[in-house]
Amino acid sequence: MNARKKVEEIEKIFQRSNVEIADAEWIVCEITGYSKMCLSERQLTEAQIKKIDKVVKKRLKHIPIAQIFKKRNFYGLDLYINKNVLIPRFETEGLCELIAKELPADILGQLHGLDVGCGSGAICIVLSKLFGYKMTAVDISNKALKVAKKNAKKYNVDINYLRSNMLSEVKNYEFDFVVSNPPYILSSELKNLDKEVVGFEPKLALDGGGDGLQFYRKIIEDAPYVLKNDGYLFFEVGKGMANEVVRLMRKDFYAIKINKDLQGVDRYVFGKLKERKI
Ligand SMILES: C[S@@+](CC[C@H](N)C(=O)[O-])C[C@H]1O[C@@H](n2cnc3c(N)ncnc32)[C@H](O)[C@@H]1O
Repeated sequence: MNARKKVEEIEKIFQRSNVEIADAEWIVCEITGYSKMCLSERQLTEAQIKKIDKVVKKRLKHIPIAQIFKKRNFYGLDLYINKNVLIPRFETEGLCELIAKELPADILGQLHGLDVGCGSGAICIVLSKLFGYKMTAVDISNKALKVAKKNAKKYNVDINYLRSNMLSEVKNYEFDFVVSNPPYILSSELKNLDKEVVGFEPKLALDGGGDGLQFYRKIIEDAPYVLKNDGYLFFEVGKGMANEVVRLMRKDFYAIKINKDLQGVDRYVFGKLKERKI
């Protein structure tokens, strides 16, 4: 069978089942190694068709495509992904870009950053591999840390990974910046998320408590003990949360700003520490 015809066939099946039809092309390309451009000219073997059909069946059960193929491209890096970590989102690439833009370029390589709730390691690995920062990363989940370590090994970056409940295990450090994309979904909203998310991604990576802000409060409260004077705190925030996060930061931080993501949503909040606490 022609590869393009197979994509169209899968798209029709996905359309009837309310599954993202853009995934059809991805599945065929991933399994065959063909590029999107040449699908119309290529024929599929029986073995390829069998493999494709197996993946389509999984996708129809709403298993996210990143979990089926156990990988996700993030900022140009192919990260290993499994059910124990959040699938890194495109918005989070913008957080990495923002940090590289805000921090002084002349001392790259000497700045030490902390990634709180590192999950797959997406943020800390990009910041280390592509922007040269020295990185420490913490997560409460040992299973997530295992994934993050595997990704760091793949990209040959030396990251100081620690199991820690928020900042509890890094109290003696002095960081130049702290970054976090913490869980920020309101507990009451979890059940309304897409089946792909609520059924397959870890609740630990999603649930931000009653008002979705519990981890922001904790990090804002504790960051002044681990940041240098004038050190930066960078957050990715949920839709509608930016102003409240700014309000929470005002006590100990200055030069606080909100930046938008590519969809025009207020997505990133960052500021500088007034004075380190001891
Ligand atoms: C939204 S995910 C972000 C993962 C990754 N940084 C990213 O952006 O793709 C939040 C992460 O915070 C971790 N987490 C949840 N509660 C935590 C806690 N009390 N202390 C440290 N990490 C926690 C979860 O295990 C999860 O990996």
